[in-house]
Amino acid sequence: MRRIKVRLGDRSYDIVVKPGLLSNGGLGISDIITDRKCLIVSDENVYKIYGTLIAKGLGADAEDVTHIALQPGERSKRLSMVERIYHKALADGLERSSIVVALGGGVPGDIAGFVAATYMRGIGFVQIPTSLLAMVDSSVGGKTGVDMPEGKNLIGSFWQPKAVLIDPEVLATLPPKELRCGLAEVVKYGVIMDAEFFELLENNVGKLLGPDMAVYTKVIARCCELKAEVVSKDERESGLRAILNYGHTFAHAIEKVSGFEGYPHWEAVAVGMNMAARYGVFKGILDKRSADRQEKLLDRLGLPVKAVGLDPESMIEAMSSDKKVRDGVLNFIIPDRIGRVSMNKTADRKTIIKAIKACMV
Ligand SMILES: NC(=O)c1ccc[n+]([C@@H]2O[C@H](COP(=O)([O-])OP(=O)(O)OC[C@H]3O[C@@H](n4cnc5c(N)ncnc54)[C@H](O)[C@@H]3O)[C@@H](O)[C@H]2O)c1
Ligand SMILES: [Zn+2]
Repeated sequence: MRRIKVRLGDRSYDIVVKPGLLSNGGLGISDIITDRKCLIVSDENVYKIYGTLIAKGLGADAEDVTHIALQPGERSKRLSMVERIYHKALADGLERSSIVVALGGGVPGDIAGFVAATYMRGIGFVQIPTSLLAMVDSSVGGKTGVDMPEGKNLIGSFWQPKAVLIDPEVLATLPPKELRCGLAEVVKYGVIMDAEFFELLENNVGKLLGPDMAVYTKVIARCCELKAEVVSKDERESGLRAILNYGHTFAHAIEKVSGFEGYPHWEAVAVGMNMAARYGVFKGILDKRSADRQEKLLDRLGLPVKAVGLDPESMIEAMSSDKKVRDGVLNFIIPDRIGRVSMNKTADRKTIIKAIKACMV
């Protein structure tokens, strides 16, 4: 078992990573749950497999635990669904002292967190992430919210959970495509913060695709530790937290120009990291060998490293309308070696285009 502390003063909390945590009876959070009503927010896929187990594991009286299972997928992450959950919570008698439990991937996690942040001006919240992406990324750090027709994650709030409970064994039921979705972010942590961890990934590709639970326990715990370190220093993304956006400026542009249907986020992030690294090489910031190493690892994990049919000019235009751009100057997170990145402000269109072209087939 691994326990990671997210240090945020009186809002500090623990992330527990333990194989078998969900199937072994109690969840170890009875102190958080005591005598409180709990509403589990999940999706239909996940609730069908793990719902009853979690409801039991919460240890509260059965009538105090209710649930709502959303339709799986990003489309559920919208305001009308938030309203439905508010109605459910009111009907079930949730009060200021009650707890919302998010059970599932990033979609139930983000939406449940937003409900918890706003219901009666904020109630307790526990995360039980079940997708790899949610385990290593979305359940840690307190960003919650929903999408608007105008764009993703435009409405939301920072709201920290009281605990994050991770059982790597649930990855056994996660579809392989969803596993890859988390792996892109896993590689990202190695490149931006931890060369040794990157090497561990290189040496365990087979087990990662397995998925091998012992390796995942290590990998998930390390990712959570790294994200917790960043979030503790910069909760509201006013500085350091931006490094978590490595590859994402390119990725968001890829998603945008391909109309959001062409490239799922994880594919765009993998290609985006390759573009960011190539940009670094062309600028003399990163050595080519390191960029090649990243490309090779992504490829071995079944992630795309090149894109098809992107128009570099439209990509630049899309990047310039990214919410993080100021005065036409783009902020890129670029590694100077595996395990370390820095922020690069640039308006160098020529090199950006060269980097995009280097990652096209
Ligand atoms: N809050 C943050 O900091 C943050 C960070 C990154 C991403 N996100 C958000 O996360 C969302 C994506 O998360 P996601 O990829 O987990 O999506 P998701 O919640 O839609 O889950 C993906 C699919 O996997 C299924 N699933 C999940 N766990 C399973 C399991 N153990 N067994 C079987 N099926 C399982 C789900 O039913 C769903 O079909 C996006 O909305 C994104 O914006 C948030
Ligand atoms: Zn991402």
